[in-house]
Amino acid sequence: MAILKVARMGHPVLRRKCAAIAPSQITGAKIQGLIRDMFETMAEYNGVGLAAPQVHNPVRLAIAGGEYDEDGSHRFRVLINPEITVLDDEHRLGMYEGCLSVPGLRGWVERPSKIRVKAWNEKGKEEEFTLEGYPAVVIQHECDHLDGVLYVDRITDMTKFAFEAEADRFLEPGDDDAEDEAQG
Ligand code: NI
Repeated sequence: MAILKVARMGHPVLRRKCAAIAPSQITGAKIQGLIRDMFETMAEYNGVGLAAPQVHNPVRLAIAGGEYDEDGSHRFRVLINPEITVLDDEHRLGMYEGCLSVPGLRGWVERPSKIRVKAWNEKGKEEEFTLEGYPAVVIQHECDHLDGVLYVDRITDMTKFAFEAEADRFLEPGDDDAEDEAQG
């Protein structure tokens, strides 16, 4: 296990289109080790998600949270070669997003609120599920990383791009308190 170095905005690894992972490799030591290190890194920096290119591995692998089980425990999904289908483009969910690769800043981004996701999980099984609301936003943020896209690219109103402390003090809050941890 290891805490990995997180690439910051400006590093070209964050702007690449990442390579697919062969499903037969998912349960191999290399990918399993990367997944473990990504979980450890994400926990260290209090992320709600983390994509492999953020730790200098330009492959299509991401971890995304924001879902809570009935007992209140935070559920994180491992997404390998994910594909997103937008189910509802009319209802968009806006919040101040943050990113471990863009430390100290927050920006208002609006995204489709309901999506269908098809991805391989950490056990090498293909899964398909529907998500709505905050976890749908988290997954879209993480999957953007796999295409070299950062949330800052999706800010349409630059007056809503701010340092964390100023965003908390002066800018309007989102629908809930989720934005406090929307950092992936
Ligand atoms: Ni991010």
